[in-house]
Amino acid sequence: MDPNVRPETMERITTPALAEKFIAEQVAAIKKQVADKKVLLALSGGVDSSVVAALLIKAIGKNLVCVHVNHGLLRKGEPEQVIKVFRDEMNANLIYVDAVDRFLDKLAGVKDPETKRKIIGAEFIRVFEEEARKLKDIAFLAQGTIYPDILESKDGVKAHHNVGGLPEDLKFELVEPVKLLFKDEVRVVGKALGLPDNMVYRQPFPGPGLGVRCVGAITRERLEVVREADAILREEFAANGLQGKVWQYFTIVPDFKSVGVNEKGERTEGYLVVLRAINTRDAMTATVAEIPFALLSHITDRITHEVKGVNRVAFDLTPKPTGTIEWE
Ligand code: XMP
Repeated sequence: MDPNVRPETMERITTPALAEKFIAEQVAAIKKQVADKKVLLALSGGVDSSVVAALLIKAIGKNLVCVHVNHGLLRKGEPEQVIKVFRDEMNANLIYVDAVDRFLDKLAGVKDPETKRKIIGAEFIRVFEEEARKLKDIAFLAQGTIYPDILESKDGVKAHHNVGGLPEDLKFELVEPVKLLFKDEVRVVGKALGLPDNMVYRQPFPGPGLGVRCVGAITRERLEVVREADAILREEFAANGLQGKVWQYFTIVPDFKSVGVNEKGERTEGYLVVLRAINTRDAMTATVAEIPFALLSHITDRITHEVKGVNRVAFDLTPKPTGTIEWE
């Protein structure tokens, strides 16, 4: 039997009881696979790696070593939440790596989107590799691979996005406890493991993070604008019942200034914040989410008044096709 093929008899995990059953089975399987050896995990704070972390903590406690790399392109509050949930509440063995300057220095002046992605991906592997080398007697690498990753990489649709690319001498045996699950099942399991709702029902977030939403060459100032505006958008969507209903929503800040006028009648130059909110099944095509006009106006008011350096907000009305979901 191919361990990477979901058996037809495997029941879809839709209820807390089925999640508990899966958790018990996986905890036993992990204990059997790793025994008293140590396991390393790159913990981004996304649903998949968080669920894998919680499962492994349940199975082997401090023998799981989680590495959280802050590359400076995370959303507001994310690194703090990873520390709070895993180190403070779950008592995990968590290494927090502040690599913000390292990434932003490497990205300075780089405009081309694919080059930005490559730099972020390669630097991530390098930081993770450095941390792995500092640790002694790690035998396994845990990954938040899920079933669509396996299906899509079989079809050659996407290169495996997890921590591939580690050098030969750092090849560990893999632990992939959720690799036969679909995303909705991972969420049911995450909920049963006691992870907070805003982690379990989190919208998809690209690996290069806010880096591809700070269009063109990233500057620290503009990155802060993307992050603060995104935090307001998320807060308002949550407060107005749209969290979990709209598939993906975020802000983009292009690399030019717009002309505006302040309340004293003076001319200003400021950033344009673009709001994007889309619905999709598989991210291959997407429709624009209908957001009440009053809410869009309120969000515009908040962003232009609360985020320094912004004088204009726009809403992207483009479905995919013709526009991709991200702007670059
Ligand atoms: P596009 O922009 O291609 O996005 O319509 C489709 C989905 O993929 C996400 N996305 C990425 N995810 N690394 C990722 O892990 C990337 O480089 C990347 N680029 C886009 C995007 O957020 C959307 O959900």
